[in-house]
Amino acid sequence: MKKRIVLSFICSLLSVCVLRAQTVEKIFPGVWKITSGQPEKHLPTDFKDAAAVTALSELPDRGAEPFDLRGVRFKDTPQGMVAELKMEVSEKIYGFGLQVNTFQQRGLRRDIRNNSWTVGNTGFSHASLPFYISSAGYGVLVNTARYVSFYMGSQHKTAQWAALAQSLKAESEQPGLLPAALYNRSYNPSNDVEIVVEGAHGMEIYVFDGPDMMRVMQRYNLFSGGGAIPPLWGLGLKYRAKTSFNDAQVMKFAQYFREKHIPCDMFGLEPGWHSNAYSCSFTWHPKNFPNPDSMLNTMHGMNYKLNLWEHAYIHPASPMFEEIVPWSGDYAVWKGAVPDFITKEAREIFETYHDKNLLSKGISAFKLDECDAADYALAHAEWSFPDIAQFPSGVDGVQYRQLFGLLYQKIIWELYRKNNRRTLLDVRASHLFATPYGSVLYSDMYNHGDYVRMILNSGFSGLNWSPEVREAASADDLIRRMQTTLMSAQMLLNCWYINNPPWFQYETNKNNRNEMLPNYLELEQKAKKMIEIRMSLIPYLYTAFAKYHFEGIPPFRSLILDYPDDKEVWGIQDQYMMGDNILCAPFIDGASERIVYFPAGTWYDFNSGKAYEGGKRDTIRMTLDEIPMFVKEGTILPLAAPVEYITPKTVLNITCRVYGKPAQPTMLFEDNGETFDFEKGDFNWVELSWNKNKGTVARKGKSKNRLYKVEKWVSII
Ligand code: GAL
Repeated sequence: MKKRIVLSFICSLLSVCVLRAQTVEKIFPGVWKITSGQPEKHLPTDFKDAAAVTALSELPDRGAEPFDLRGVRFKDTPQGMVAELKMEVSEKIYGFGLQVNTFQQRGLRRDIRNNSWTVGNTGFSHASLPFYISSAGYGVLVNTARYVSFYMGSQHKTAQWAALAQSLKAESEQPGLLPAALYNRSYNPSNDVEIVVEGAHGMEIYVFDGPDMMRVMQRYNLFSGGGAIPPLWGLGLKYRAKTSFNDAQVMKFAQYFREKHIPCDMFGLEPGWHSNAYSCSFTWHPKNFPNPDSMLNTMHGMNYKLNLWEHAYIHPASPMFEEIVPWSGDYAVWKGAVPDFITKEAREIFETYHDKNLLSKGISAFKLDECDAADYALAHAEWSFPDIAQFPSGVDGVQYRQLFGLLYQKIIWELYRKNNRRTLLDVRASHLFATPYGSVLYSDMYNHGDYVRMILNSGFSGLNWSPEVREAASADDLIRRMQTTLMSAQMLLNCWYINNPPWFQYETNKNNRNEMLPNYLELEQKAKKMIEIRMSLIPYLYTAFAKYHFEGIPPFRSLILDYPDDKEVWGIQDQYMMGDNILCAPFIDGASERIVYFPAGTWYDFNSGKAYEGGKRDTIRMTLDEIPMFVKEGTILPLAAPVEYITPKTVLNITCRVYGKPAQPTMLFEDNGETFDFEKGDFNWVELSWNKNKGTVARKGKSKNRLYKVEKWVSII
């Protein structure tokens, strides 16, 4: 304490920093809030959904604090507010949102900033979150919309020199190292964490306790409001047609899927309302879509759910423009107004317009593009507002950049909620507490390895991520990419710059010249088969999302959440769990062979039923027709006979595959598949059990809805 007072005195004398005391408050079982200094006016918690916290209160609490919360040191400096924490030598760190090119975060500096490109390896991303979790079983979240830098053991203070002296001496005894070796010498990260919130003079930190990382994630997700359950149709395929397509071209592909009986639930299209300066008029392009109502009717008649592309930069030609300008920021983007969704007025104008003109016409979802404010995109292009922008609510450009995606998805999701319709949005930016807003992130970046890593990282952040498919380097690459999107939150073909589906031709230029591959029919069959497998997984995936909602368990996640004590999985960034029972191991860059690590237990190849013993690595070869999924011993896997699309009347005919002994009972979530009535108790849990070579089905719940009919049981051993 004495030391603190002296330090504080020195700091203030030099007027560089002032030590600040903190208050620690327990706000839920296993959740604490540490507050220090001057509170910020606009915080991410302001936009947090209030629902579903009951489950959070029911999670067991181990009583003790996960680390010395009062030992966190806060300093108010001219740069901003600083917090200093300690880590144990053994701790591994994960998270920081949808990080693209890193998995383990210890030893790194992470700059939390939303941007549509990673810009090297800075920590920037579509959803860069000030939230990390530790293998020691706790999570640390900074509740701010400002830029934050995290130094995760990446720096040593000179005050530590005495302690380091020995190892420093040893290092200096290695003469003549060439620069490459010098830079890459094995390096021991420090145990210090420094967090800097730029421009703030206060900080709010939330600490989520474990005891393990899975429990940390459950607490975070439930604190956020619980995971969104997508509508049943949201688990099918989404085909997004080329930007420039007119109604006839859209219809051609809508018919193509139906004629070929290739399952497709969601059709994405661009109404051409960005054709002026790229900002949106929100009126259908008169030439491309002269009669949108009739096109919509036809597509709805064909059982498509329509998803319209848009972004929220509003062109002067938009009917909303005059009204919304006073509630917009003081800088234009693509010559459009940037509505301040923190103000009630901007929200109401935007919502009413969407409700009257689009939701009422049956539009089921939107793609909320460009909200990651692509600051570094192209030289001289007005792709974002500057950090110094001012918004009517009082936030500046920094805060709005961080919050924009969160607010955008929240208002559209709430609009659907008011209409008692569930939706599944695409969104290109997100932030803290987005868990309950039914959206999936996507990216213009396209590295397959990054896409897989992002699936794992999304599970540390309460985010959904879809590794979309566009063009490919080869037929093998195309199929392997399709397999990865099949094993993700949303199966998405984003053909926004190609004329034809990629199985017609995977090379962009040839595709646009309509030059089909010689074997395109064969590839089409492979693609169809894969989409059918996705359709057969719907009951399993739907239940995984229900567990996300009710228990906060991420449906897609790193193996470390399920196997925290297995040190082999700590660094694995190319395998992950899909739900509780399926391990996915994508083949990247068209490979036909890879090494798979199997955690404890026996695992069964989804395709052949071949068993693999856990606790070791195996080289796995798979043909393009085989999906790299492995099922855990003791699983009852409900597989639906694939349907071409979901309707309110759909009943899925199920075959239960029973893997190994003893088979654990499985629960399936059942409701009407499309509304929020389940929140009022209108749902069932369908229990599947296997005893003495016989399967039984029991329904618990009061809902009259029936989504499943169990038809067959097959034992796989
Ligand atoms: C990009 C978006 C793409 C596509 C394109 C259409 O910003 O990331 O997925 O929608 O716009 O113009």
